[in-house]
Amino acid sequence: MKMVDYKKCPKYWNRNTDFMEIKRNILLNPGPATTTDTVKYAQVVPDICPREKEFGLLTESVCRDLVKIAGGDEENYVCILFGGSGTAGMDAVINSVTPPGKKILIINNGAYGKRMVEIAKAYAVAPVELTFDQATLPRVKDVESALRNDPEIACVAIVHHETTTGLLNPVREIGEMAKQYDKVFIVDAISSFAGIPADIKKYDIDFMMSTSNKCIQGMAGVCFVICDKHELEKLKDYPKRSFYLDLYSQYDFFLKSGQMQFTPPVQTIYALRRAIDEFLQEGAENRYERYRKSWETLRNGITEMGFRILTNPTEESNLLITILYPEDPDFDFEIMHDRLYEKGFTIYPGKVGKLKSFRLAVLGAVDHHDINNFLCVFKDILKEMRVRGLTIEN
Ligand SMILES: Cc1ncc(COP(=O)(O)O)c(C=O)c1O
Repeated sequence: MKMVDYKKCPKYWNRNTDFMEIKRNILLNPGPATTTDTVKYAQVVPDICPREKEFGLLTESVCRDLVKIAGGDEENYVCILFGGSGTAGMDAVINSVTPPGKKILIINNGAYGKRMVEIAKAYAVAPVELTFDQATLPRVKDVESALRNDPEIACVAIVHHETTTGLLNPVREIGEMAKQYDKVFIVDAISSFAGIPADIKKYDIDFMMSTSNKCIQGMAGVCFVICDKHELEKLKDYPKRSFYLDLYSQYDFFLKSGQMQFTPPVQTIYALRRAIDEFLQEGAENRYERYRKSWETLRNGITEMGFRILTNPTEESNLLITILYPEDPDFDFEIMHDRLYEKGFTIYPGKVGKLKSFRLAVLGAVDHHDINNFLCVFKDILKEMRVRGLTIEN
């Protein structure tokens, strides 16, 4: 679908692809991720009022497909969109789902688990924080003893892919435990949705949040929560803790009007529609395999260069690695970042306490060829910088 006539810009007009090419940057930060040009151009649409039926139908189709991608069915699950980043989705779930007077058990083995605790505290929702070392997976038996010891806990929340480190948390096992104790199960799948298999039914998830700009490969600005309808209906009678980010109000408004309550990021939703189409065209299995192959290429290349990686490959998401600084006191992340940035590659600092590390992620419209190109450029830059303690020949 061609929406804009760029033929007036012959310098940039590409006759093969039928649209203006945009400089391709490879984002190795864990989202917002590299997008296809077709997703970028999907934002260029005639102006439309989001209160028009046409836009409501578009939004509805986006929600329906997001439910399907999560492994849900229309009868039992529904998707609620909010304008905002992933944190808005976390906020909406944490503030809306815990029943009054009850507690929420939050598993924290990284910055995003910690963020859920902070959100709960901000709304005076009593969190029970179960903290694990950032380089280790949460232990299911510890979750069980927390649930056994405190009957006031009504909900259990965990991050699927802890983007702080690249660990893939045992969501399925913890979901089983949560259900054994009859708790509401919440999963932050913000950096894993559409990038790693996670079936909302099989994993016993009641509320799953994600965002438009990570593995689904859309633009930043929309977050979404896929909800079990039965659990969602219970929220109707809970006191509202937020005006804007209230899950039930947003659901109810859409149900009655086919519109989002407040002005949505219109163009981002068009881009999300296109990103979903591209996901469906690629196929879930092919997307997982593309990411896995990029991760494997990256991990092998980085290890061969002599870097150490924080986590164990069997516990990783296949989407991101945390790399420890080499043993060279002169190693400078900022210089390395800036040189790579000039060449079109964006790398990302680490987030694990005082540990000196940086992160590389493979989510987005990139493949193992891009990763091989990155590794060549990276090696050359490290050689120019004369970084010691690696196995690259100087
Ligand atoms: C697991 C996880 N949760 C939450 C967030 C927060 O999302 P945002 O930065 O879009 O608010 C991120 C962001 O990277 C994330 O990776």
